[in-house]
Amino acid sequence: MVKLVGKNKILSAVFISGRGSNLKSIYNYSIKKNSKICVELVISSKSDVLGVKFARKYNIKTKIINYKNKVKAEARIIKLLKKNNIQLICLAGFMKVLSKNFVKSFKNKIINIHPSLLPKYKGLNTHERAIKNRDRFSGCTVHYVNQNLDSGKIILKQKVKLYKSDTPEQLAKRILKVENKLYPRAINKVISNF
Ligand code: GAR
Repeated sequence: MVKLVGKNKILSAVFISGRGSNLKSIYNYSIKKNSKICVELVISSKSDVLGVKFARKYNIKTKIINYKNKVKAEARIIKLLKKNNIQLICLAGFMKVLSKNFVKSFKNKIINIHPSLLPKYKGLNTHERAIKNRDRFSGCTVHYVNQNLDSGKIILKQKVKLYKSDTPEQLAKRILKVENKLYPRAINKVISNF
């Protein structure tokens, strides 16, 4: 499979830790005719995951980062990002928290998708908490990454109806479908400011 790299595309890195459905949606968006981004690099904190398999299948440069030592891991990532002239970082199910220094080095260039309507339910177990609180809606948010967890400026968010019978798994599945559409739209919005 040949990778399509158009001229003048914004070189992007996608950070993952698992399944990679958002990576897939970003990649599919990136190879559209009018897209302004190219997925140049995938960084994964885990080796044997579906997201890595997907990236390799489509010949995207993929690096697995050993996170035993966070300082060393981030130093290696920064080196890779610089070497590949990365201009935009998309966190897509990346389950590591970036250090303040890392975030500072790429100010306003890192975005993340989170499975809740931020500022509600930062952190983990978002679906369990939305169900427990009997919320009428949950959803997902794409936001800039700053030094505080899930707290940067919101780019786009979308509501998803919550049913009384919902289990966390059912809700997660419905929200993920919406995430996969929202992320490319958010990228489009972000890069219009580049
Ligand atoms: C997505 O639901 C994403 O919002 C979530 O992990 C999942 C990754 O799915 N991210 C977080 O919880 C980050 N705090 P994917 O690997 O299929 O894209």
